[in-house]
Amino acid sequence: MNEQSVPDKLYDSSNIAGLYIRASLSWPDHLLNQSIEYEKKMDKFIIDGGRELKGTVKVSGAKNATLPALAAALLACGKTVLTNVPNVMDVRTMRRLLLRLGAKVEFSGGTLEIDVPQKLKCEAEYEIVKQMRASYYVLGPLLARFGKARVSLPGGCAIGARPMDLHLKGMEALGARIDIVHGYVQAQAPKLKGAKFQLAGSHGVSVGATINVMMAAVLAQGRTVIESAACEPEVVSTAEMLNSMGAVITGAGTPVIAIEGVPELHPCQFKMIPDRIEAGSLMAAAAITGGYVTIEDCRPDHLTAVIETLRKAGVKIAQGDEMVTVEARRRLKPMEILVAPYPGFPTDMQPQAMALTTVCSGLSTVTETIFENRFMHVPELQRLGADIKIEGNTAIVKGVPKLTAAPVMGSDLRASAALVIAALAAEGRTEINRIYHLDRGYENWERKLKKLGAKIRRVHIPM
Ligand code: EPZ
Repeated sequence: MNEQSVPDKLYDSSNIAGLYIRASLSWPDHLLNQSIEYEKKMDKFIIDGGRELKGTVKVSGAKNATLPALAAALLACGKTVLTNVPNVMDVRTMRRLLLRLGAKVEFSGGTLEIDVPQKLKCEAEYEIVKQMRASYYVLGPLLARFGKARVSLPGGCAIGARPMDLHLKGMEALGARIDIVHGYVQAQAPKLKGAKFQLAGSHGVSVGATINVMMAAVLAQGRTVIESAACEPEVVSTAEMLNSMGAVITGAGTPVIAIEGVPELHPCQFKMIPDRIEAGSLMAAAAITGGYVTIEDCRPDHLTAVIETLRKAGVKIAQGDEMVTVEARRRLKPMEILVAPYPGFPTDMQPQAMALTTVCSGLSTVTETIFENRFMHVPELQRLGADIKIEGNTAIVKGVPKLTAAPVMGSDLRASAALVIAALAAEGRTEINRIYHLDRGYENWERKLKKLGAKIRRVHIPM
C-alpha cells in the first residue's frame, strides 16, 4: 500500500483516530503516517488452525538490512534509491525519522527514494527512538558527515536490556567525544580518525554496533579495523551498499572488517537482500502444518543453521539458489536448538522454532544465548497447550500430539510470528491480539499465508 493511501475502513471509523485521519489528509506526511500506525494498533488475527499449507510464496526484502540502508543513505548528498524494500511498520518509522532530519523520502511499490540535502538536522528524538531502537543507526552517518549527532537512548525492550555501550565504544575509538545528557547521546568529533579496536561485549558480538561504527568509519581519516565484528548478512549488505557509494570496506562477513576512510561518498542504487527470518518463519509454518511449500526469492545460504536443524528433525528440504521447498509429512523428531551469532541458529528464529518443537515427538531443548528475556512467547504457547518448562536460559519442550486454540497476545515481533505458526497447527479458532508487533517486520503476512491455504483474517479494532 502506498503510504498516502489510507484504506477505506479507516475513514469509516467513528472514533477519534479515524476522524483525525480523515481530517489530516493534507497534513504533513509524518503526522498522517503516525495516525495510521496508531489506528492499526489494536488489530488482531483470527486463525482457524489445522490446515496444511501448500503452494508457493515469495519472501520480502530484509527489514534488518533496510533499516541501516536508510541511515547509510544520509552519508551522501543526493538521491539514493533502494529496491526490494518491505513495506513494514519499522521501515515506515525509519522513513519518518529521515523526513524529520530533513531528507525527502518517497516510498512506493517496494522502492524507496531518499533525497538527502546538504544540511540535515542532527537529532533523533526520543519520540521516534522509543518506537524503534534501530533509529540509533543515524548516529554513525550523522557523526561522520556533520561532526555531531544527538540521539536519544532507546531505553528497555521486551526481549532484554539491549544497551548501546558498544556503539559508543566504537565511536569513541574513532575519536568522538560522547556525553549522555538528559537521556540523549551527544556525540561530537570535528573529524573522525581511523583506529583498530574490538567490538564484542559480555553478550558477544553486536550486529547494530558493527554496522553503526562501520557507517561512521567510512568517512574517517585513515584506516579502521573492527575486530570481533558481527558476521550477519545484514552487516555484509550494509558494507556492499557503502562500497557502492564509494566506501572502501573489506572483510564484512568475517570477524575482522577493515575500512579505508574516503573524503566523501556518492548516492547509489541498491537492492535489499531477502529477509532470512521471514523465510525461516515460513519454513516453520509449512513444517508445523505438515505442508508442502516452495519459498521463492530467498537466500538458502543465509539459512544454513535453520535448514540443518529442520532437516535433522525430519523436514524434507530441497534448495536451489534462491528458493527452498519444505515438506513435512510425518511428526517431527525433537530438536536441540542453541542460539548463536551468525552463522549459528538466529535468535530471531528462536520463538518460531520453539513453536514447532511444541508438536515434535519427545523432548526438545531451546537455549537462548543472546537476549536475556526472549521467552515471552512461552506462557502464550502454554495457553495453546504446549508443555514447556524454563530452566535458566533453556526451554525444555515436551512435544504434545496437538495444540488447541485459545486467545493469545503477541509481546514482540518474533513472539507474534511464533504464535501465528502455533495457531496454524492448533485445533480450533485462535485469536492473536496485538499483532501490530508482527506488522513491524512481516509484510502482508496474512495475505501470504492465506494464499498457501491458511484460514486467517485480520480484524480491525477501531480505538
Ligand atoms: C539486531 O539487533 C536485530 N535488529 C535484532 O532483530 C536481532 O535479534 C539482533 O541483531 C541479534 O541478531 C535489527 O537488525 C534492527 P545486537 P541489535 O547489538 O543490533 C548486546 C528482530 O526481531 N549489546 O547484535 O540491537 C545486546 O543486548 C530484532 O528483528 C550490548 O551489550 O542486536 C544483545 O545481548 C530483535 N551492547 C547482544 O549484544 C551494545 O552496545 C546482541 O545484540 C549492543 C548490544
